[in-house]
Amino acid sequence: MTSPAAEFDPFSKPHLLGISDLSAFDIENLLDRANAWAERNALPDNKHAILRGRTQINLFFESSTRTQSSFEIAGKRLGADVMNMSVASSSVKKGETLLDTAVTLNAMRPDLLVVRHSGSGAVELLARKVANCAVVNAGDGSHEHPTQALLDALTIRRRKGRIQGLKVAICGDIAHSRVARSNILSLAALGAQVNVVAPSTLMPTAIDRMGVNVFRNMDEGVEGCDVIMMLRLQRERMSGAFVPSSREFFHYYGLDSRRLALAKPDALVMHPGPMNRGVEIDSVVADGTQSVIRDQVEMGVAVRMAVLEALADNLHGGDNVKAAGA
Ligand code: CP
Repeated sequence: MTSPAAEFDPFSKPHLLGISDLSAFDIENLLDRANAWAERNALPDNKHAILRGRTQINLFFESSTRTQSSFEIAGKRLGADVMNMSVASSSVKKGETLLDTAVTLNAMRPDLLVVRHSGSGAVELLARKVANCAVVNAGDGSHEHPTQALLDALTIRRRKGRIQGLKVAICGDIAHSRVARSNILSLAALGAQVNVVAPSTLMPTAIDRMGVNVFRNMDEGVEGCDVIMMLRLQRERMSGAFVPSSREFFHYYGLDSRRLALAKPDALVMHPGPMNRGVEIDSVVADGTQSVIRDQVEMGVAVRMAVLEALADNLHGGDNVKAAGA
């Protein structure tokens, strides 16, 4: 099976480190390609040869369900040899550093290295100092999670037909969220109006410089919105208490049916996962008819296929996609 669109024009960067590196054209182009993959993924024969002979290593220093498994599926669907390096059973447990681990893996000549790390900027450091291959940021600290923002944008675009002019509320732990940061960048680039909603303790100072509207009151922040994106409390990045209790947080900042009714009647409910039901989102809403949380997971595979394909193509001077008959 050949790849889905002949006119694919991959972005020219050697790595995908953040949405901040992409133009609106790059984002739209990746979304177009990912949309084509999403259509192809629904067909019974969804195995391709675009990355045949390429090696992809997934190196996750933080836990993951969605991102790691969808990068693995995406690589395999494109025909790559995919290896998941389990940090829990690696020499990281014996004190090996991020850079030494990366140098070791780089010596095995992978084509694609997908990395998640708790340190903001760690993936960029590895890409600039160590890797001779394409590096994908699968989430670095509270900095960026670019493929999450791309899959969120694709989910919105498929449901609403556009992103330009939509009103999107991003609610919850904005301060510790790489998902919030990447989404603010991509949604702003694509012409959406973004509201951020959080208590002062979870709102970064100077966030308004990113061009968002800042709300401490959730009812006001979600009013009239086309999309409500909920975020969990990222307790692993907190030192000390940022909210009095989970129950109190839900009272003031949880998405329930009453608050959802303040948004537009056809508003989408989104969550990158993992969800903490009863803390930032009520089960009735998470599992309700306006929820597109499962669509987000499905679009994750398509977006990661588009990203892996584009980066592999850059590695090989554009011959990769061409050779596959695209
Ligand atoms: N959205 C997301 O990054 O989920 P995982 O932590 O399960 O990969």
